[in-house]
Amino acid sequence: MSADVSSANPATSPSPNQRAASTGVASNIMAVASGKGGVGKTWFSVTLAHTFAFGSEKVLLIDGDLGLANVDIQLGLTPGHDLASVISGRARLDEAISGYAGGSAQRGQGGGFDILAGKSGSGALATLAMPELHRLRDGLIVLARHYDRLIIDLAAGLDPSVVMLSMMAGSACVVITDEPTSLTDAYAFIKTLVQRGAKIDLRVVVNQAQGRIDGERTYDTLRKACESFLQVSPTLAGIVRRDPRVKECIRLQTPILARYPTANAAADVQAIAAKIRELDRAMNQGG
Ligand SMILES: Nc1ncnc2c1ncn2[C@@H]1O[C@H](COP(=O)(O)OP(=O)(O)OP(=O)(O)O)[C@@H](O)[C@H]1O
Ligand SMILES: [Mg+2]
Repeated sequence: MSADVSSANPATSPSPNQRAASTGVASNIMAVASGKGGVGKTWFSVTLAHTFAFGSEKVLLIDGDLGLANVDIQLGLTPGHDLASVISGRARLDEAISGYAGGSAQRGQGGGFDILAGKSGSGALATLAMPELHRLRDGLIVLARHYDRLIIDLAAGLDPSVVMLSMMAGSACVVITDEPTSLTDAYAFIKTLVQRGAKIDLRVVVNQAQGRIDGERTYDTLRKACESFLQVSPTLAGIVRRDPRVKECIRLQTPILARYPTANAAADVQAIAAKIRELDRAMNQGG
């Protein structure tokens, strides 16, 4: 495979809001993972990227699920290139980036961010050999220097690509629901990272919760298992309530912040973004 996935755009000046990435880990890369499929990773990743973008951060949202990619679908975009183009050598990483304008009624009102789309059904990322995965990782780390924040929406499961993309992230948001399979699969994801010695700040987002109390109970179940068996204690980043607007917005291919910015689920993600900024500050100060 001859794709030069490691050549990001050198013309763009580096953003100051990040640590050097010589260790193969970039603190401004955040993985969104779950183990189990269908819990709301993609919706959460899109909404979080949108929130940070409204906060004037330069954000790149990467669809790390090449088998069943859908970041572009939730945003209603049809990108000319995607990660599959990069992997097949038809485009460089920086050429495969497209822009989401932000969805404001008037242009230039903020909320715009970049995306690196996956390609539904290609399966290319899942079948990449280790050298290609490593080159992709190195390319993304170079790319991260040009952004305040990279958010990677990972595939469900524990494929080598999922593990490798997580290992280069400074932090991970593990999205869970109250279903037992979500908890066991999230635990398996965390266990894999811990066993591999990942230097990653683990955070948990409870999605589709009935309310605060239910969400905290779900988080506590996972936290206790992690503390008892893995000696790690993931932090609660926040709870997102189950909200019918989420499904409606996905059906309309419109981010919730563009359509219903005051919906419960939108407000919950905005609170999580504030918490993540706080956790990032502590992480970057070595706390
Ligand atoms: N807070 C919420 N309230 C109500 N429904 C939700 C919420 N979050 C997600 N959903 C529902 O969950 C579905 C799956 O969401 P999404 O595609 O983002 O999950 P995913 O984890 O990325 O799935 P996959 O593992 O297949 O990539 C959505 O179509 C939506 O109907
Ligand atoms: Mg998804």
